[in-house]
Amino acid sequence: MKKIYLDQASTSYPKAPTVAEAVYTYLSQSAVNVNRGSYDCAYSIEEKVFETREQLCRLFHFPKIQNVIFTSNVTMSLNFLLKGLLRPGDHVLVSSMEHNAVMRPLTQLKDLGVSFTRIPCDCEGNLLLSKAADLIRPETKALVCLHASNVCGTLMPVEKLGAFCKKHGLVFLLDAAQTAGVFPLDMEAMQIDALAFTGHKGLRGPQGIGGFLIRDELVPKLTPLISGGTGSISHTEEIPEFMPDRFEAGTPNLPGILGLHAALSYLEGHSMEEMRNHELALTRYFLDGLHSVDPDGEYIRIIGKKDTDGRCAVVSVQTPKIDMAKAAYALDQTYGIMTRVGLHCAPSAHQTLGTYPEGTIRFSFGPENTKEEVDIALEALFAVAGKNR
Ligand code: ALA
Repeated sequence: MKKIYLDQASTSYPKAPTVAEAVYTYLSQSAVNVNRGSYDCAYSIEEKVFETREQLCRLFHFPKIQNVIFTSNVTMSLNFLLKGLLRPGDHVLVSSMEHNAVMRPLTQLKDLGVSFTRIPCDCEGNLLLSKAADLIRPETKALVCLHASNVCGTLMPVEKLGAFCKKHGLVFLLDAAQTAGVFPLDMEAMQIDALAFTGHKGLRGPQGIGGFLIRDELVPKLTPLISGGTGSISHTEEIPEFMPDRFEAGTPNLPGILGLHAALSYLEGHSMEEMRNHELALTRYFLDGLHSVDPDGEYIRIIGKKDTDGRCAVVSVQTPKIDMAKAAYALDQTYGIMTRVGLHCAPSAHQTLGTYPEGTIRFSFGPENTKEEVDIALEALFAVAGKNR
């Protein structure tokens, strides 16, 4: 049985073609550290790390190479940003579609006297921005929001959010987990103060590497979440003031950075728009396939938007006539279709969409998925959902 991977929102597969070789070459030929050794091998790896920061600056249209910080993933980046920035008494706005990468740090910070309010979204996940101004308090410091829902793919209005934050003097933190490498992101034009990304989804790099880009003005306001050796100013036990060392203690994930470098090089040599259009064409084909056979959603109910405007290639469905965990299991075991079922680490989003606590089965498409694979997925989904086509 051919296996078909439709869980791209969890992590992309296959990775960009050059990634595995880049990681292997580093590990097998010169797996040396950076910022510590004064020898050529170390300098050449440092050069690659610097180039990776440059690539990320180009990708996100951000001017300051030193302010690109590497972490393990977008969750760690958001923890750095939220826990570093917020102080007792501060209040934060979030969308009601957030992932637990935002909600759990904020819930943890409640014990320290930080509070948050959710800006409501409609049942398709669209942000009701007109309701946001009334939620601002004198102590509101920041707005943190994902760019696209990992549950149903709905995009948030980033430009409008940037302008809203500017107008009201709020720090704007963007979680680009589902969109980095897929949708254009311009930190300058969108007035994003800090952008958190992961390397292993749309960028198609390895797991375990991510980061954030942060504007100069925010740097002194952020307390480093971790501290330790940086290979710089080793005579002192104080955390360096300068970037990126201020937020990058310990030996970095060099296999991950070199894999990400390869992935970003691949992305720069290809059209992001073409790849995105391909994913969205598959999404449209899948949605149309569901709708044409079962327009009333008796067997398969589409959650969120029914078309491809304002969304990424992530689709959630429910199967009213069969338990969804069993359906997802059958999709894999009988038809080889890999999906993600449940609450997708996003209970707030599911509450918004009206799918809490039962959750959904999520299908997500990538640049190397094909129409034939979507046909097989549709056939399989109808079969497990109890509907003959
Ligand atoms: N946040 C990732 C997902 O939605 C892992 O599956």
